[in-house]
Amino acid sequence: MISKAENFLKKNKICPVCAVKKLLNGVRVNSVPNEEFDNGAAKTPPMGWASWNLFGRYINEKIIEETADAMKALHLNELGYQYLNIDDCWMSSVRDTEGRLQGDLSTFPSGMKELVKKVNERGFKLGLYTSNGTFTCEDMPSSLYHEEIDAKTFAEWGVEYFKYDFCHNEAIPTAAPEIKSISLARPIEEDFLTRSCDSAELRGNAVILEDKHLSGDGRFIGGLDAAGGKAVFYSINVPESREYTLTLSIRKFGNYKKYAEVIVNGDKSYPVHIPPTKSQSKDGRVQISVFLNEGDNNLLIHNPIGSRMDSAAKQYRNMGLLLKKAAEEQAEKEGREVKPICYSICEWGINRPWVWGKTAGNLWRTTFDIKPVWASIVSIYERNVRLYKYASPGHFNDPDMLEVGNGKLTNNENRAHFTLWCMMAAPLILGNDLREFLLPDGKVDIMNETLRVITNRAAIAIDQDPLGIQCRRVKTNGLVDVLVKPLENRELAVCLFNKGPKAMNAEFSIKELTKEDFVSLPDAPRYTVTDIWENTTFVSQDNISASVNGHSVILYKIKATS
Ligand code: GLA
Repeated sequence: MISKAENFLKKNKICPVCAVKKLLNGVRVNSVPNEEFDNGAAKTPPMGWASWNLFGRYINEKIIEETADAMKALHLNELGYQYLNIDDCWMSSVRDTEGRLQGDLSTFPSGMKELVKKVNERGFKLGLYTSNGTFTCEDMPSSLYHEEIDAKTFAEWGVEYFKYDFCHNEAIPTAAPEIKSISLARPIEEDFLTRSCDSAELRGNAVILEDKHLSGDGRFIGGLDAAGGKAVFYSINVPESREYTLTLSIRKFGNYKKYAEVIVNGDKSYPVHIPPTKSQSKDGRVQISVFLNEGDNNLLIHNPIGSRMDSAAKQYRNMGLLLKKAAEEQAEKEGREVKPICYSICEWGINRPWVWGKTAGNLWRTTFDIKPVWASIVSIYERNVRLYKYASPGHFNDPDMLEVGNGKLTNNENRAHFTLWCMMAAPLILGNDLREFLLPDGKVDIMNETLRVITNRAAIAIDQDPLGIQCRRVKTNGLVDVLVKPLENRELAVCLFNKGPKAMNAEFSIKELTKEDFVSLPDAPRYTVTDIWENTTFVSQDNISASVNGHSVILYKIKATS
């Protein structure tokens, strides 16, 4: 068995160490850029409303306008709800003659630009959705391979929130081309410089191999795939600073796509896409345009994509940077302040977005889709609550849009769901029918229990605390969790969360909490404690114990008594 494997490796010129490295690279995030994504948006978790949870694909211009009217009548902007987001199915199945997305021609007949205007007039910002795939999750046209034109279109329409889903995604290949030589030319002139593969410095898994079916000496560089190897060509001397045509002479193999990046002088990176081959000829070439400086340059060629996580991270960051650029350019064109596009990554937590999310966008979904049932809310919470260390101003975990007021959730469950999201510094994107909070005479139904949940200013303030810290679970007995969220001014939010169906007792010591290094609440003789949902205040010296109803929370805000 072992000798069979050895034979296979030898025959295919695979070194065993390289094969193991490749395997490991395939299951991790191999490189995260140093630079955080900063577009100026989401310094606190974004707040708004989105169409998906209630309306799904059955949306139209009228529903959106009525929702905007309701948001205005309810004064939701005064509470921090800024965005009105249209999820899947706003787009027509055909792009316009210039290749731009356009609103569904029958359900959004006024066009998206017009709708943005109407929503802006009511005091809200409009959000749109597509997928980092060839189609959306409802199989509508989408933005993969159309990133630049779509980012520009959204900025031109005045869109200020963008959710980027993951259906129909095509990963960037981990396979890399095999390189015989590189050549340079000024555009429309002949090559003036050619370097064979032997002149490159090889790093990692990169290796010189031979194939007698190739033209010339048959030598080429292999092993550049899956973030495993690099080839560097030094002293690429050019007479003037300008764009040059770089030709990579490659060995053709495999009926699948390959990918590489050429990094010039350790700085600008140029993608190279190689199509699958069906050809019988072994020699191929691929050309890109690169900017070189007068004198010596170095060109590093590799494929940094070792895993599907690397691919997702790269694609999402690429779109984020394009949106940012488009928003800035649009502002300049119109001579106004930049309207940042809050960028919501939605790949359901399958590529560890919490590891690379803050280099790519403002928020990232951590789970599959929420449903308006208790089990769904608890299971999403269980996953998201562990990810506290990844949240910070401008970059938040997203446990999905709220289901408060949807399905058959009880009032206790609605409160608990809303409170958990506030404790987790989660985006508060409502998903229920806001029109129902208005009575037939147009007045606000102020006694409505669901409305009271989503408009609780003290709970919202915990979510929106400027420190942007996500709560930690400090204690649990399996059914009742104690969650703690540091707030500005050395205050603290504490939530007692009972997941089970029956009332349970819970207790904690404030003094013990002050000893936790992430808590800045000072050690003090007395504390003022506010029960946020009961709207009562009391003084405590240390221990607090309470009975928590089934599927419920108690939410406290604690400060040292002065
Ligand atoms: C995915 C997303 C949802 C929603 C739908 C739309 O399932 O996770 O939030 O956007 O697509 O089709």
